[in-house]
Amino acid sequence: MPLPAGTKTHPALQLLQWVRDPLGVMERNAAEFGGMFTMRWAGLKTIVMVSDPEALQVTLTSPSLVAPGESNEIARPLVGDRSVILMSGEQHQRRRKLLMPPFHGDRLVSYGQIITKITDQVFAQIGSQQVFYVRETMQEITLRVILQVVFGLHEGDRLELLKKRLVTRLEVSATKLGALFIFLPFLRKDLGDWSPWGRVMRKQRLCDELIYAEISERRSHPDPERIDILNLLLATQDEEGNYLEDVDLRDELMTLLFAGHETTATALTWALYWVHKLPDVYAKLMTELQSLGDRPDPMAIFKLPYLTAFCNETLRLYPVGMTTFSRKVKTPVKISGQMLDAGTEVLASIYLTHQREDLYPEPKKFHPERFLERQFSPYEFIPFGGGSRRCLGMALAQFEMKIILATILTNTKLSFSNPDLNLLPVRRGALLAPEASFSMIKT
Ligand code: HEM
Repeated sequence: MPLPAGTKTHPALQLLQWVRDPLGVMERNAAEFGGMFTMRWAGLKTIVMVSDPEALQVTLTSPSLVAPGESNEIARPLVGDRSVILMSGEQHQRRRKLLMPPFHGDRLVSYGQIITKITDQVFAQIGSQQVFYVRETMQEITLRVILQVVFGLHEGDRLELLKKRLVTRLEVSATKLGALFIFLPFLRKDLGDWSPWGRVMRKQRLCDELIYAEISERRSHPDPERIDILNLLLATQDEEGNYLEDVDLRDELMTLLFAGHETTATALTWALYWVHKLPDVYAKLMTELQSLGDRPDPMAIFKLPYLTAFCNETLRLYPVGMTTFSRKVKTPVKISGQMLDAGTEVLASIYLTHQREDLYPEPKKFHPERFLERQFSPYEFIPFGGGSRRCLGMALAQFEMKIILATILTNTKLSFSNPDLNLLPVRRGALLAPEASFSMIKT
């Protein structure tokens, strides 16, 4: 069966354009070919991209497609061989069940206090009239949150050292060189400390040393009272009664750090930009937050309608994950009226779906009210993907975004260092992020 139409541009150039300007590539293809088109990336893969809600529903939920772990190879150097991201089929579903409980219900509530405290602590370090960089500050908060929620680390030398080493390790993935490592796997050669990849691997080993030390200490001094995810995973047994091995624990901890830290920090960076860019939006958010009185309960913050609409709009306009992970056709399937053969790789474009005029009139405008005026199906609004590989941290991320924002807006007053700031989105590693780190002043 022929693949859907796509540009005739040389595949090597298509790959280069995808690395440099993914939004431009998606927009140009959608304008020429509509909701479904083929992209060819030389030496890497051929991809069918979809953005019609019906096509998304089939792609993400039909049993004719699978979400193979092998397609996520790019994450292996960071998350290791035994991460949920690299698993497929039943093994993948079992591991997801194991990792899911910490991100829901009562546990989430207990994380509320932790998140508020961390946000206050980070902002307390910034003096009055002091300039601070927003992305870096959001990263400091989300890294501390994830280290406490995942590892239970809230103070001490190991926390400080691990934080430092993780920042230098994760930083690489977000640079231009990081993007090249993702898309040009032949660059990933460890030729010792002087080679770029060798240096990355050294940074990884330094992180691993500390993670394994923590696992070992926790195995020898178990404490059932702790509510962190490492504790939960240490106590977990599979059907045969086996405990997870150290390498499984290390790989899942790295997975949660990698998937949960920079994503949420980027979303929060956009959020702080929009709320201070648009005085109307700021006024509405403040009125709603003030209606809760002093020291509001985190669950009450979580349920606020305008704050929810604001966070949704932030994730709609420039979704941190531009596409889902890829899906593969297992048995021939019809999507948007076109048959796709077994083996075809399909990517759902979160960005293009969120830019549809028919769903989101004036899609380039930041307008939270659209989420109060109508409901969107899980195939119309999909910042966290969907189906069998939907984001495991969705509930935690939404909760975290709201609590951190509410805490900052309630307790501090901020203004832009550059009042004319106009931020545009660019690729940052695998993510979509503001083009530059911008600064604000705590007034
Ligand atoms: C605003 C923040 C976040 C955004 C926008 C986001 C978005 C996404 C997206 C689009 C996917 C792919 C879904 C698919 O292919 O259908 C994903 C997967 C994933 N996310 Fe998130 N994420 C966020 C935060 C988090 C957090 C806080 C965690 C955990 C602490 C997390 C853990 C994961 C994991 C483990 C996967 C892979 C799931 C699997 O392979 O089954 N994410 N995320």
